Amino acid sequence: MLWLKNVHLVDPGQGISDKASLLIKDGKVAKLCRGEKQLTEEEVLMTLGVSELKDVKQVDGEGKFLFPGLVDAHVHFREPGQEDKEDINSGSRAAVRGGFTSVLAMANTQPVIDTRALVEFVRLQGERAGLARVYPVAAVTKGFQGRELTEMVDLQKGGAVAFSDDGLGIQSAETMRLALEYAKLTGCPLISHCEDTSLAGQGVMRKGEASARLGLKGIPASAESVMVARDALLAGETGGKIHIAHVSTKESVWVIRAAKKLGIDISAEVNPHHLLLTDEDVQLTNSSYKVNPPLPSREDQEVLLEGLLDGTLDMLATDHAPHTWEEKMRPFAEAPFGINGLETALAALWQELVLKDKIKPEKLIELWSLNPAKRFALQGGTLKAGSPADMVLFDPEWQERVTAESLESKAQNTPFLEKELQGFPIMVWVGGKLVMKNRKIVEKQ
Ligand code: DOR
Repeated sequence: MLWLKNVHLVDPGQGISDKASLLIKDGKVAKLCRGEKQLTEEEVLMTLGVSELKDVKQVDGEGKFLFPGLVDAHVHFREPGQEDKEDINSGSRAAVRGGFTSVLAMANTQPVIDTRALVEFVRLQGERAGLARVYPVAAVTKGFQGRELTEMVDLQKGGAVAFSDDGLGIQSAETMRLALEYAKLTGCPLISHCEDTSLAGQGVMRKGEASARLGLKGIPASAESVMVARDALLAGETGGKIHIAHVSTKESVWVIRAAKKLGIDISAEVNPHHLLLTDEDVQLTNSSYKVNPPLPSREDQEVLLEGLLDGTLDMLATDHAPHTWEEKMRPFAEAPFGINGLETALAALWQELVLKDKIKPEKLIELWSLNPAKRFALQGGTLKAGSPADMVLFDPEWQERVTAESLESKAQNTPFLEKELQGFPIMVWVGGKLVMKNRKIVEKQ
């Protein structure tokens, strides 16, 4: 039982950005009192059904924000098969340290998550870790071969909340069309990694002046946007539900905006690295800047932020993609694509966008908690009375240097390594259980 006092609650689902106190009982929000009015001791005891205050844990959150737990619709936890990069336990630790209480784990593991047994395995490993809520995303096609569809209805029964061959674009429009039709039986969105491989070729960064200067093969923006257009049209034709992963080009934003106007059931996410870094930042000697889709041009980046602010793009997601140091030490062109994101994402956006007044805290939380929870029909996303107590106490003043030792993730492939960031979660609860305190995981007793 918990009494959280004097926090600044940001809960866009209830339209609240105000001083508040909350009572937590049986893993849920039992009462919320907003404004300067304080709960009386009597009210606390009555609501929580105890006779003495000593039975109630009290936390004074003066000067801190309270957010509904963040929901990350895009992480790679690598289990089964590549546990040297990450596993579901280490990924879950990284998640809650970063303020994420729910994550959608992508299916590009080894083997890929294309059977009900594998979906159940991911879900159970998440439960065993006992930290963030881990929701499996199942493959669209068997073995990620891009041809034969998986048994989506059965996979949903096993716990899948979405379907995706993320990591690979589905090259055949016919397969995509069928998949959209079939996924309608589940009501779950299909998450599309939009990448036309005939256009992407052997590229390793965004095609443009910067790639020419570095002498690296470029990926044209069209490799993404033509497939966004294709998938939007297919969703429109079939009445299917599509979610576009990691949008990184202005043309994709234009297409999604037009598709929404046409009433197509489309949503989209943006990754923090695409909002904070550009192709001009790419360093030949640091493959932590190598990611797919690649870092955008400055112009693209501006349109991405506009798209988030005007509601064209629905959510933020990390695309947390851990890789071993050995792999990332290879020459830029040969290193794998991916940025480790869970533990730096919120602080980096806070520092670069919120503190610079480019985005309001209320919008940030809408994009990172309410909207993904709604789109993927998950619990959470708000702290209204009766909701699960998935909560983040956030200290806007907390400064920290990102070091290899401090990360809970097994991997360190982040461009923010050795950088100082400001604004971090200091306490995180999942279903009322404290899982992170003072930047450290609360270990199981
Ligand atoms: O950079 C990326 N890494 N993009 C993806 O789509 C896949 C991911 C990975 O799995 O490493």
